Amino acid sequence: MKQRVQRTERVRGNITVPGDKSISHRAGMLAAIAEGTTQIRNFSSSEDCATTLKCLVELGIEVKRDGDYVVIAGRPGGFATPTAALDCGNSGTTIRLISGLLAGIGIEATLTGDESLRSRPMGRVITPLEKMGAVIESSDGKAPLHLVGGQRLAGIEYELPVASAQVKSCVLLAGLSAEGSTSVIETTPTRDHTERMLRGFGVEVDVSALGPGRKISVRGGSRLKATDLTVPGDVSSAAFFLVAAAILPGSDVTITDVGLNPTRSAIFDVLKAYGVELQITNQRVSAGEPIGDIRVRSSQPPVRPADYTIRGEMVANLIDEVPVLAVLGACSEGGLEIRDAGELRVKESDRIASIVTNLRAMSAEVEEFEDGFRIEKSELKGGRVDSFGDHRIAMAFAVAGLAAEGETVIENAECAAVSFPTFFKVLGSLAE
Ligand code: S3P
Repeated sequence: MKQRVQRTERVRGNITVPGDKSISHRAGMLAAIAEGTTQIRNFSSSEDCATTLKCLVELGIEVKRDGDYVVIAGRPGGFATPTAALDCGNSGTTIRLISGLLAGIGIEATLTGDESLRSRPMGRVITPLEKMGAVIESSDGKAPLHLVGGQRLAGIEYELPVASAQVKSCVLLAGLSAEGSTSVIETTPTRDHTERMLRGFGVEVDVSALGPGRKISVRGGSRLKATDLTVPGDVSSAAFFLVAAAILPGSDVTITDVGLNPTRSAIFDVLKAYGVELQITNQRVSAGEPIGDIRVRSSQPPVRPADYTIRGEMVANLIDEVPVLAVLGACSEGGLEIRDAGELRVKESDRIASIVTNLRAMSAEVEEFEDGFRIEKSELKGGRVDSFGDHRIAMAFAVAGLAAEGETVIENAECAAVSFPTFFKVLGSLAE
């Protein structure tokens, strides 16, 4: 599908965004291994989270869904051996977390996905799971992954070689069924939804500070108890509208019920540093997560503070927002530079290459680094860009199109549904 976007004066209005994708995956998976029935409200409408539910059904779990309301009857220790390969589609979170869950239980299964997922690194989950005693066959550390099953895992202490919440969560989920305790050490803190949600399901999770990072431990044999929860709105989906409002002076957008987890909120810090007016109200807690309403208003173009580079620890806390932050940079006095973000090269697409290629197609001045890019303030010109099959690239360049001269055409834009099926409709509803 081609999506056409026209230059827009400003964006104004009140919206909500789909339930958080990371949290919805975890809610589905933890409900499946909990005793009793879990009700989940505001479950993400993304294709990725539907993929997780489909995999759970193929594992013998009873899932009832009515829009964003999902009811899951847990079967602790009662997963069925799937008869065919589990298709994890485009979803890195599905394949990496479910592999930990299944390795812990000792189920035989094959996990695969689409072309993008089959090209992404899985050695990062295979290595710790093998250290715990799992036997996993793969070709070259890529999916399909064949979990041989039948092994009882032993707890380990594992220091993450890359800052990855998916790897952390994979090891912790495996640890729930392992012998003894399992600890993950992360030198750079990553999103902590698994830790928060495990507690919500009654599991004791020990978190201690360790240098600049932390050590997270769970005990094998932990029992989960079903619970009811409402998923916060996805801050990574909200980010597209925050940036759209920031770069179009005269904009005023409010997004209600958005997750404000501090391990995901570095985008707010960047916007504030660039002088964007953000107001957060109605703060409360939902599903163990801080949430609130965010209003963003702009009267002048954003400005990069002197010597301001996004790098180091901060990167993990805005990793999914980088595509749209690149657009912020192109429309800001002083541009934007990001480093230490090599992980972007192994996301749904090589996001550094996708961003650089598309920005250049829109006449922006941009320098590519192995671990990031630098972009100068540019007069964006409408042109033909590609999603490269990556949902966040499709949505980020729709935002760029709002600020560009003329018409922007985004090729292969249908992949936006991977995280946000109604994105273009919502964006259109705000345009003035
Ligand atoms: C996610 C973790 C991040 C993020 C992804 C979702 C999660 O990936 O980019 O969109 O739900 O745990 P990594 O763990 O690979 O950094």
